[in-house]
Amino acid sequence: MMDQQQLNLQNVLAFAKQITEEAGNKILHMLQSEKIEVSRKSSDTDLVTQVDHEIERSLVTQIAQKYPKHTVVGEEGMSEINPTAIYRWYIDPIDGTTNFVHQQINFCISVALYKENEGLIGIVYDPLRKEMFWAGKGLGAYLNERLLQAIEERRLHEALIGTNLIWVRRTRKWGLEQQIYEIAKRCRGIRSLGAAALELAYVAAGRLDGFISLHLSPWDFAAGKVLINEVGGFLTDFKGMEIPLKNEKYGLLAARNRVHQEILQILE
Ligand code: 2AM
Ligand code: CA
Repeated sequence: MMDQQQLNLQNVLAFAKQITEEAGNKILHMLQSEKIEVSRKSSDTDLVTQVDHEIERSLVTQIAQKYPKHTVVGEEGMSEINPTAIYRWYIDPIDGTTNFVHQQINFCISVALYKENEGLIGIVYDPLRKEMFWAGKGLGAYLNERLLQAIEERRLHEALIGTNLIWVRRTRKWGLEQQIYEIAKRCRGIRSLGAAALELAYVAAGRLDGFISLHLSPWDFAAGKVLINEVGGFLTDFKGMEIPLKNEKYGLLAARNRVHQEILQILE
């Protein structure tokens, strides 16, 4: 059994990339060969399918076999969580399930490994485009074979910001209605992909200059956080504080320094 303290980042990355790519192939196969059965979870916007369950189950099994002392936190709750484990995997078998159901595009798998609160690896895989965004702490972030450069510093008026207007229904309740409107007014453009993990990977890759969302869980952003940290960006709450990966919902903001600061000032 592997010593907890001697985890080799390269080895664990190779393993995680392989199981994530295989999961992506399985999703594509299921899309072609099965009827997708859709169920509602907490609301009409919160969907799950048999593919989410199957993929999470398979990832959990493979991780448990390889790293029995680690614990896995998955969106669909397919694993028994050991609260005392030092190493925690955060997985979302399909991020962007609504896209998966309606569009069959713009969804991804998100896999991350943390040692307590420290992100060690982050993988976001878009199986249709065959784009794997991956990072290891201190090893840089990559899109497939290409090393991603540090995020460019921009001002908000030159920035393309990702967000999802689904949260508009809650902005008034949370006193953020004016602020969200102000951000939209000041930036160059708003883009809404509907898959938070993928949007965070796009910030890391420079396709978006920032991403803001109101109600996300650790499996939605754990991998994106590792990617963004490796390219000099910040991922924080709306007060600029680090986000602990507890089983809670978080408002989060990811961007490079200047855009991050400008948006924080609006949110204050
Ligand atoms: P999911 O597809 O894994 O559920 C846009 O909907 C983004 O917000 C997606 O990344 C989605 O993740 C995430 N999200 C988290 N909680 C959600 C909810 N209750 N309703 C809709 N999307 C949610
Ligand atoms: Ca999901």
